Amino acid sequence: MHDHPYRESGQLKQIRTSGKSIRVFFAIWPKEAVWRQLCDLSEKLELVCGGRRTRAESIHLTLIFLGEMETSQLHTLCLAANTVRGQVFNFIVEGIRYWKLNRLVYAETGETPLELFDLVGSLKNTLSAYGFSFDHRTFTPHITLVRKVRRHVLPKSLIHLVEPIVWPVNEYILVKSEQASDRSVYTPIGRWSLESQR
Ligand code: 2AM
Repeated sequence: MHDHPYRESGQLKQIRTSGKSIRVFFAIWPKEAVWRQLCDLSEKLELVCGGRRTRAESIHLTLIFLGEMETSQLHTLCLAANTVRGQVFNFIVEGIRYWKLNRLVYAETGETPLELFDLVGSLKNTLSAYGFSFDHRTFTPHITLVRKVRRHVLPKSLIHLVEPIVWPVNEYILVKSEQASDRSVYTPIGRWSLESQR
């Protein structure tokens, strides 16, 4: 068992992990009302498109996927994240898209908030400076709602949501990803607050 320091509401806390290697990513995770709305959307989409919806507790937006690393590296990863500064923002879920190549359906925003680009940019710069490697492709924010899609005809009311979902984001988290039979299980292992706008 190892302890790793991370910052929550300005304070250093400890997270506990075990095992030699760990698969991790940084993400934002919806709470309450937004979570419910995204669940409803995924249920609706599963009916329309076939395939398999993302389980309710797994709906999220990935910031950076780091993949497999030695558990001993987590300590440095948390120290790196402690130096990242980001501002709160609203992520407006405005529509649904079909990604043919990966046979998935995802929710997206019309205009990515600058604060989100800044947060991901700051995370990337910091993690690089601390020696971590990850995929450097352009960040395309998306929330995967259905996988293995069978029909990709989306109703207009979903391509452009009649009522966009306003997602207030005030923190980001570090998530452990584990494979359990045929599905991924995500567990939050670190949490960092974003700063309020002045
Ligand atoms: P996806 O929803 O488009 O599949 C955990 O796997 C999260 O990290 C998912 O949100 C997944 O995006 C994202 N991710 C990004 N790059 C990945 C990769 N190379 N392998 C697995 N997941 C990746």
